[in-house]
Amino acid sequence: MKQVKIGLIGCGSISECHLNAYQANPHVQLYAVCDLNEERAKKAAEKYNVPHVYTDYRDLLANSEIDAVSICTWNNSHAEISIASLEAGKNVLCEKPLCKTVDEALRVQEAVHRTGKMLQVGYVRRHASNIEVLRRFIDAGDLGEVYFAKASLTRRIGNPGGWFSDIERSGGGPLIDIGVHVIDLCWYLMGKPKVKSVTGNTYRKVGNRSNVLNYDFYKAADYDASHNTVEDMANALIRFENGASLMVDVSFNLHATQDSQSISIFGDKGGAELEPQLKITTERHNTMINIDPQITYPGFDFQGAFNREINHFVECCLGNTETICPVEDGTQLIQILNAIYQSASEGREIQF
Ligand SMILES: NC(=O)c1ccc[n+]([C@@H]2O[C@H](COP(=O)([O-])OP(=O)(O)OC[C@H]3O[C@@H](n4cnc5c(N)ncnc54)[C@H](O)[C@@H]3O)[C@@H](O)[C@H]2O)c1
Repeated sequence: MKQVKIGLIGCGSISECHLNAYQANPHVQLYAVCDLNEERAKKAAEKYNVPHVYTDYRDLLANSEIDAVSICTWNNSHAEISIASLEAGKNVLCEKPLCKTVDEALRVQEAVHRTGKMLQVGYVRRHASNIEVLRRFIDAGDLGEVYFAKASLTRRIGNPGGWFSDIERSGGGPLIDIGVHVIDLCWYLMGKPKVKSVTGNTYRKVGNRSNVLNYDFYKAADYDASHNTVEDMANALIRFENGASLMVDVSFNLHATQDSQSISIFGDKGGAELEPQLKITTERHNTMINIDPQITYPGFDFQGAFNREINHFVECCLGNTETICPVEDGTQLIQILNAIYQSASEGREIQF
């Protein structure tokens, strides 16, 4: 059986989901890990029985045994490491967002085309089982033409700090961190229409709410309450050339009574709620029908989605299929996100 030898770069929180998925795949040999933080890399190597440990990704890439890499580093290094990996002859699974800027995205895209290697963007939500189910309904025409989508992912207190709150390393706050997931998901389910224009707002009003007492929330390893250079919240309206539109709002911090998570798409024959759990609605015999798909995970199944994402990446590496998350989709999202930030700072709509 041909095995794909994997190197993983960036052994922080999300790397666990990649490593668990690779470990469970019989076509994979976990071959190397790398982190700037040697202790973290060694710990991952020990836990997952990985023979090679590096602290410089260039040394990992020089190992000719390695076929493919997962990039799980801060956003500011995604482009540089992706390009170097492709040039070293490796296939790449790059965590979302593809990078920080459109210029970087176009350089990554050029490297994919020049080297003939493959890059899959880590849009893990596309691989969730509820989304695979919904795709079948959409592809069969059950929703008709999808002309509107609405996504809201708001945390009332949830700026993780560390690199997430450092615009140099992250490229932005909740918009680039969680907005990228939901904008991508809606755009993908709408059939990837061409963007016509974007208008957006970002706010820095309540800060990281480090003053709040007696309330726990996830904090990055290098959390520092005194450092925060990203927006608290963002909202946007994206118009597409086919007349469809997408509304989104996301926050790290907001004076809301609770966190909320809702994503819906609407077509001329039916609609669907994706979050908090999959529900489909349509009409039959002049009667409104709500459909509750009976599936094991009606919501987002975190590790299961990573398993399917990585199994798909491995199938692509083996040449058995083509990725459903190509580099061009990474670039398109960076173009949308950057246009939202530009619209917010200039106070005007951005035409594509
Ligand atoms: N798909 C998802 O649902 C999801 C969830 C969380 C994070 N992410 C993405 O994964 C990436 C990592 O996020 P995280 O939460 O694991 O962060 P993290 O801070 O927990 O881990 C990042 C690790 O990368 C290492 N690192 C940074 N630059 C490096 C470099 N040049 N070379 C080697 N190591 C380097 C850091 O030392 C750290 O250990 C981010 O791009 C983030 O957007 C995706």
